[in-house]
Amino acid sequence: MPELEVKLDQRSYKIQIGRSLAPAVRAFADSLAARRSRCVLAVDEALLAAQPEFVAEAFADMPRIILPSGEPTKCFAQFERVCDFMADSGVARDGTLFACGGGVTGDLAGFAAASYLRGINFVQIPTTLLSMVDSSVGGKTGINIKAGKNLVGAFWQPLAVFADTGLLETLPEREFPAGMAEVIKYGMLADEELFTQLEALPRLSSASDELPEVVARCCQIKADVVGSDERETAANNGRALLNLGHTFAHAVENVAGYGAYLHGEAVGLGLYMAARLSCIMGLIPPSDVERVKTLLERYSLPVALREPLPLAELERVAGHDKKVRAGKLRYVIMDSIGNARTQDGINPDTVRQLWKDAGAA
Ligand SMILES: NC(=O)c1ccc[n+]([C@@H]2O[C@H](COP(=O)([O-])OP(=O)(O)OC[C@H]3O[C@@H](n4cnc5c(N)ncnc54)[C@H](O)[C@@H]3O)[C@@H](O)[C@H]2O)c1
Repeated sequence: MPELEVKLDQRSYKIQIGRSLAPAVRAFADSLAARRSRCVLAVDEALLAAQPEFVAEAFADMPRIILPSGEPTKCFAQFERVCDFMADSGVARDGTLFACGGGVTGDLAGFAAASYLRGINFVQIPTTLLSMVDSSVGGKTGINIKAGKNLVGAFWQPLAVFADTGLLETLPEREFPAGMAEVIKYGMLADEELFTQLEALPRLSSASDELPEVVARCCQIKADVVGSDERETAANNGRALLNLGHTFAHAVENVAGYGAYLHGEAVGLGLYMAARLSCIMGLIPPSDVERVKTLLERYSLPVALREPLPLAELERVAGHDKKVRAGKLRYVIMDSIGNARTQDGINPDTVRQLWKDAGAA
């Protein structure tokens, strides 16, 4: 079973990846309870309905709060519910909140754990591919406010992460390919070998034997990047590299209306645009852009807008992306597949042409 460590001095923790991890979660909870840590659970409603045996085996009769599925749950009302639930359950400073669900559950519960009594233990059991390879690693937690997504939150590292890939069997159909966009991203930004491996493998599914290793590789890349720039303060590269394709993706999600594209679907298009940008800048050959396109299409990810979206709006939103530093919009580009860096001062006309080529009107 792959196991790796996120190295952050005293906040270091282990990620276990594999199938049938319910007994391992149970043993970890039992070890905390034996140290008199009051353990409680925040669980996603749809996950609970789809995987009742896992929840029963992993968490037994641990007090639980059931969170509605979907992005609107990352809000102050649900945050308050989780905090009240912990108080009503007698969770003290040495208590532990387990979060079982996708990125929505992890982000909300993580922020509640970071805030309640100024911070209690937190354990993540991510249940979507995206949350296994991305949101459960790195310690970003938070909720949404009217002004935008993830604008209120905290850096709060978990005590441990358990990623049971067997849980992915019940994921809604579009969610697995959407998670694969982030997997492909890791290959493009830091690991040509992973990219080549993905090219050589037939389309992965939740049942693929290779999946735990692939998830572990992605977690390791994110852990390494986060370990070198925990709070995204590096002037160049660092954590910002994880945003390969994301300036484009955020604009598409925003302008199309949240929910029209799953985040990973928008990332797929963003990765293709980032590859094209790198090619136009003379950094990678057209054949590498084709490789990226072929891999994205294998996972039914879009490489063009599904419906035309207004060019001016896309440019405006991309121009306000939170990755703007000192007034300059930074893009992440590739010098080669597996080797990305941040770059300021990209010619706006080049970006405009990319949007037009993607179908913006
Ligand atoms: N903290 C970070 O670093 C970070 C990074 C990336 C994304 N995010 C956040 O993550 C969120 C998206 O996460 P997500 O893609 O996991 O979405 P999600 O949590 O909404 O889960 C997607 C859907 O799958 C369902 N589900 C989850 N696991 C299931 C399972 N095993 N079987 C059946 N159904 C299941 C959920 O109920 C939901 O309907 C966004 O809010 C995003 O902002 C955070």
